[in-house]
Amino acid sequence: MDKLVSLCKRRGFVFQSSEIYGGTGSVWDYGPLGVELKRNLQDRWWRAMVRQRDDIEGLDSAILMHPRVWEASGHVGGFVDPLVDCSNCKKRFRADDPKIKGVPGTPDAQCPACGMKGTLSAPRLFNLMFKTFMGPVEDSAATIYLRPETAQGSYVNFLNVQQSTRQKIPFGIAQIGKAFRNEITPGNFIFRTREFEQMEMQFFVEPGTDMTWFEYWKEERMKWHQGLGLAPDRLQFHQHTRDELAHYARAAFDVQFDFGGSLGFQEIEGIHNRGDFDLSQHQQFSGKKLEYFDHATNKRYIPYVVEAAVGPNRTLLALLVNGYREEAVEGETEGRTVLGLSAALAPIKAGVFPLVKKDGMPETAHRIADELRPHFPVFYDDSGAIGRRYRRQDEIGTPFCITVDGESSADNTVTVRDRDSLKQERVSVDRLRDYIGQRIVQ
Ligand code: GAP
Repeated sequence: MDKLVSLCKRRGFVFQSSEIYGGTGSVWDYGPLGVELKRNLQDRWWRAMVRQRDDIEGLDSAILMHPRVWEASGHVGGFVDPLVDCSNCKKRFRADDPKIKGVPGTPDAQCPACGMKGTLSAPRLFNLMFKTFMGPVEDSAATIYLRPETAQGSYVNFLNVQQSTRQKIPFGIAQIGKAFRNEITPGNFIFRTREFEQMEMQFFVEPGTDMTWFEYWKEERMKWHQGLGLAPDRLQFHQHTRDELAHYARAAFDVQFDFGGSLGFQEIEGIHNRGDFDLSQHQQFSGKKLEYFDHATNKRYIPYVVEAAVGPNRTLLALLVNGYREEAVEGETEGRTVLGLSAALAPIKAGVFPLVKKDGMPETAHRIADELRPHFPVFYDDSGAIGRRYRRQDEIGTPFCITVDGESSADNTVTVRDRDSLKQERVSVDRLRDYIGQRIVQ
């Protein structure tokens, strides 16, 4: 993880938020390469969920919502973690932190940070929602929340979307957006942060068909994660036990990825059968009917919801962990660091280099880069030895490197080097766009 954090900063994937002021706790900024990678991931999800299906509609609901939404959803009363603090070192922990020895609030309990005994408070409940005020008056009547999930925006818009698109059940609503949680124990780089994004799809189904759809979405989502290039043996399902189930869930499975080290297998996506909990609650709290009328069967009902909720930030970390490797290179003293991202997700698709800075090679390389740039992101580089330039692209996951050399002016060809096999092929300049274009669509 330390190596990844350092690579991410050095090469412009992820920076600490407000770093020059000492940083903001567990909030991160995405640099030039990070934002490209995250966008590629989000576009891929949007394509799979919305563009390639006729039974899911897109939505972009606001972060700020009516405060009653969060009462209805159960977040005001129930979105809490038990918190304990140490009166000696002032650090805070979740009461169920396995590093705590003894029962917090008793003299035997030991602080996992400073090691003092008897300094941990008894657990108290801490709501994870960020509060703020709407309008100029800072009182309880003006309190609103930064949303802790995007899902509620889809529930309160259920009828708006259904009626405007004339979708019939079963159908889904998908959205990508920011969510905020005042996590007590954030950390592990971008794994658990206080500001993050979600890609959530709510699938509305007829009661009684929910478990069939639940199984369907479980399989679909696992296939999607495998399609990103995450190693199949690093992916697994985890079924929630009765104790783990959220208040709204009838059944839940996590897709887990093996992050290695002390993290091990952790959730990157949750698939939940939420029953009619959400729509029933919003119907009750808003006083507005949220029923669906099925003309074919003349039945009126509140649909059940099967949800597939994935975090792009956490999935991006999984891609970095999955792809990072250090390897020796035959015949060279210096090894190389490679980010084995799939060509479709890699932030830069091709590096373009003149072998040397003379004999018209820079001009030709510039021309090639300019011709390719409208079609996919490329990076022109003429500084340092060619081996160095290859290494710089390898460690950011660039799948192809194009080199203009002495032969290029004679036969209008260049070499294209493959990041993983290290094989070099001579390709005609006229074919470059198709050659790379075909290999980055997956
Ligand atoms: N609407 C259901 C819901 O929000 P969740 O399991 O709490 O379910 C879904 O969140 C996904 O959002 C998680 O699998 C994870 O990828 C991401 N996520 C949740 N909390 C996060 C945090 N604090 N930092 C980064 N990602 C987070």
